[in-house]
Amino acid sequence: MRAFAVDSFGSAGSVRELPVPDPGEGEVLVRVHAAGVNVMDPIYTGGWIKDYMEHRFPLVPGIDVSGVVEAIGPGVTAFKVGDEVFGVSSKPFVGGGTFAEFATVPVSGLARKPANLSHAEAAALPHVALTAVAAIDAADPQGGQVILLVGAAGGVGSIVSQLASARGAKVVAVTSEASAEHARALGAAETVDYAKDAVAELKKRYPDGVDALIDLHSDAEAFAGYAELVRKGGVAVSPRGPAGAAAPSIEERGARFAAANRAASERLGEVADAVSTGRIRVPPIKTFSLEEAPAAISEMANGHVRGKLVIAVR
Ligand SMILES: NC(=O)c1ccc[n+]([C@@H]2O[C@H](COP(=O)([O-])OP(=O)(O)OC[C@H]3O[C@@H](n4cnc5c(N)ncnc54)[C@H](OP(=O)(O)O)[C@@H]3O)[C@@H](O)[C@H]2O)c1
Repeated sequence: MRAFAVDSFGSAGSVRELPVPDPGEGEVLVRVHAAGVNVMDPIYTGGWIKDYMEHRFPLVPGIDVSGVVEAIGPGVTAFKVGDEVFGVSSKPFVGGGTFAEFATVPVSGLARKPANLSHAEAAALPHVALTAVAAIDAADPQGGQVILLVGAAGGVGSIVSQLASARGAKVVAVTSEASAEHARALGAAETVDYAKDAVAELKKRYPDGVDALIDLHSDAEAFAGYAELVRKGGVAVSPRGPAGAAAPSIEERGARFAAANRAASERLGEVADAVSTGRIRVPPIKTFSLEEAPAAISEMANGHVRGKLVIAVR
């Protein structure tokens, strides 16, 4: 099969012929049509977490997938050959990913692909939409509440914004000026430019504070700054590990800190339903070929993706 892989940390990588893998216990072999690109991909290929997880070379990145079941591993009853599936591939090691014509994927991460979505659209969703679901669970936005959303224009933010505004909350999005229109199109009622002392501007606009903060970008110090806007009894949510260091200062002020890690893949059905019924739409997608994977990975690493990047494999 054709697969994109890197041979060492930080190398650009290339498309080459690799053997089609055999599905193990609890896995299916997916004929990959499209693979979503995530923040994890440059982290894996760059070796940023090499001391914490086993990395297998040649390292094929990619955790998000949409495709068709080609073969079934031992013990699998939930899917059959020919099923169209989408989901996220979580393995106990890094590698054997979805930037390839075939990938083995644990069925615990898969759901049936909604018929009204293309493979590229379905591949854009799993990791970021499940993380958005976790952030929404943690913030629990209610009608009329004000939700401050930092990092609104990226993959997770593009879904959080829609889910929160669908509940009747007012989303105030912190973005670059260039991404403001994108954020408004996906449900933000207001935008604030992060390059122009956003915290001071927000304190002017919301002197009584906001009900919740969902911050998808900041590390501890900046997160603590935005969290000063959360009123007593409110909640400050982050999916980023380093932001947790701000928790004591947030709690001292009478608000709560909540981490938001990707929700379980069983919730993919909810995501599929929200998209199929039009409650949320797939964010704008920029598509790359398998050969263009290095460009997709470095664009992801630059941190200013608007919507989602997807590798169209076939
Ligand atoms: N814990 C988990 O399970 C989990 C799961 C998924 C993601 N995450 C984390 O969540 C974060 C967001 O993921 P993602 O997939 O949405 O990332 P992404 O698609 O790369 O989003 C990046 C966005 O951040 C915005 N941004 C850049 N600089 C900013 C700043 N100074 N202030 C505010 N926004 C800024 C960019 O907007 P502009 O274009 O306007 O600059 C861009 O749209 C990442 O850190 C990721 O690692 C955690």
